[in-house]
Amino acid sequence: MNIAKLWMAPGGLHIEPAQASDAETISRLHAQGFYRGWPREDFAAYIAGRDTPVYVACDARRKIAGFAMIRLAADEAELITIAVDKGWRKKGVGIALMRAVFEDLLMTPARKLFLEVAEDNPAALRLYGKLGFKKLSERSGYYSRDNGQPATAIVMARDLG
Ligand SMILES: CC(C)(COP(=O)(O)OP(=O)(O)OC[C@H]1O[C@@H](n2cnc3c(N)ncnc32)[C@H](O)[C@@H]1OP(=O)(O)O)[C@@H](O)C(=O)NCCC(=O)NCCS
Repeated sequence: MNIAKLWMAPGGLHIEPAQASDAETISRLHAQGFYRGWPREDFAAYIAGRDTPVYVACDARRKIAGFAMIRLAADEAELITIAVDKGWRKKGVGIALMRAVFEDLLMTPARKLFLEVAEDNPAALRLYGKLGFKKLSERSGYYSRDNGQPATAIVMARDLG
């Protein structure tokens, strides 16, 4: 029996694994959240990949409000990216996406979740701090801003389960 994965989220949304047809919307949402966007084809490949689960927060008509993407590698996992539509931010969708990720990762061998976050991203720092991620190190000049300025990445991790 194939049991569908589904997690509840605020605002009448729910979270479920992304489908191939979501790649276009996810690429657009990602471009809204980050200076360097990734093409639809990249997301289509991630959605199809076994080691790169992608989750969407969407309404009953599957209108997507946010997404998160992970990479699995042996007993570790990495948060590759997460973004919430501007109209849906600060409503708990980011937290709900991350909690769905934690729960789903319990079904994998991953025991630690890593991520990188720009030091000048207060929304993401607040989100990860609330969820128990701890700073491991810094990577100076890891990001480059649209004005050409470098930005430092903070490497964080959290135990799973
Ligand atoms: C980071 C992001 C995913 C957060 O999503 P979200 O749905 O707005 O997050 P939530 O509503 O679940 O909020 C989580 C916490 O962060 C806080 N927060 C959200 N946006 C914030 C902001 N701009 N400044 C300060 N705190 C913020 C919330 O208030 C909440 O804390 P609280 O419960 O104590 O009030 C969203 O801002 C986004 O898509 N940003 C652009 C892409 C990005 O930067 N991704 C992360 C890359 S590492």
